[in-house]
Amino acid sequence: MTDLSLAGETPACATDGVWLACVECGGTLAPFADVVYRCPECSGLLEARYADYPGFEAFSGRGVWRYADALPVDAGVSVQEGDTPLYEAPDVAAAAGVADIRVKHEGMNPTGSFKDRGMTVGVRVAERLGVDRLACASTGNTSAALAAYGGRADTPVLVLLPAGKVAAGKIAQAALHGARICEVDGNFDDCLDVVAELAARGEAYLLNSLNPFRLEGQKTIAFEILEQSRTATGEWPDRIVLPVGNAGNTAALYKAFRELVAAGAMTDDEMPALTGVQAAGAAPMVEAVEAGRGRTERWTDVETRATAIRIGNPVNAPKALPGVYETGGTAVAVSDDRITDAQRMLAGDGIGVEPASAASVAGLLALRERGEISADERVVCLTTGHLLKDPAAAAAAGGDTTPVPADADGVLDAL
Ligand code: F0G
Repeated sequence: MTDLSLAGETPACATDGVWLACVECGGTLAPFADVVYRCPECSGLLEARYADYPGFEAFSGRGVWRYADALPVDAGVSVQEGDTPLYEAPDVAAAAGVADIRVKHEGMNPTGSFKDRGMTVGVRVAERLGVDRLACASTGNTSAALAAYGGRADTPVLVLLPAGKVAAGKIAQAALHGARICEVDGNFDDCLDVVAELAARGEAYLLNSLNPFRLEGQKTIAFEILEQSRTATGEWPDRIVLPVGNAGNTAALYKAFRELVAAGAMTDDEMPALTGVQAAGAAPMVEAVEAGRGRTERWTDVETRATAIRIGNPVNAPKALPGVYETGGTAVAVSDDRITDAQRMLAGDGIGVEPASAASVAGLLALRERGEISADERVVCLTTGHLLKDPAAAAAAGGDTTPVPADADGVLDAL
């Protein structure tokens, strides 16, 4: 049984009040002694735990490291990640018809996605562990972020990408930041299987969201949403709608809420309803939620224009599904055409996102149509990556160019 309770004594293995716990068998491990990704006893997912959970009064400064008291290390390998905008979005608001709608644009991070929040923590822990190679499987954004943070830390980076299925901007980033890029004849889930085996053989330190320290950094998305919403509207949101791939963010946001409850800074009832959105061609989480299950079943054939979330085996599902259920959330699948429509709608509000990110808005609109989100709700949609990540998708969704001669009358004639 998955047990996500944060209650209990600090085990003897803790270092500076931090330890790792298995969410399945409850076993505990020293955090920085050995390189571990899963429970050595039962292979369950691991989660960072703390002797103390801070409330909002402990937070100061800006960005991810504002939340240092809630993180496993005091400082990161940093290029000023976090502190992303919480936008109003009039076109989305008009279409959604809810009491309040904001867009938390994680595409405004240094490498253009939320992955930077995880890497600033994860690469710092890697330094502390003394590893000599960092690695990840990726649909693109994780590889771009790891390449940048590995570069900053002067540690070699290996990335495994599904051949032909990664957007151009992301490969360009990984290449320029200096990663060794291997294109695998397989999908993301195959890449993750291979890189997990390399990590198990001690060939590299794994920085996918299976790594519990990375999710600690991503937890700060929730803290920021809560603080910014309260500043903007006086209230916390009732619901957070987010795209789901490996379900790392869903797990991380739920962990942030559980920690705030443990700190006495939030009640269970105040947890925003975590609402996951997947592309219809890659929707194992939606399938699990519709069946009320605590586990996903692997989809071997996945396809979607939103290549960032072209994932059939969400490794963090055992941590994320309880978050969906316990917060009163849900999950919904949307077609690629609806994702593109939402991408255009956001663009019309001046917010440029990649297709996977627009899934959150597409999901909100779909759930409004179905009557599963009520008009009196305050909603935050998470947009996870920047428009420039996938220039081909943006160009295809946008208008055509018009060839004109090099004179003003010629331009006017063409309009
Ligand atoms: N949105 C974007 C833009 C992403 O890049 C990802 C994941 C997700 C959403 C899904 O987030 O896994 O926490 O549910 N991208 C990973 C990668 C898999 O390799 O870049 P999740």
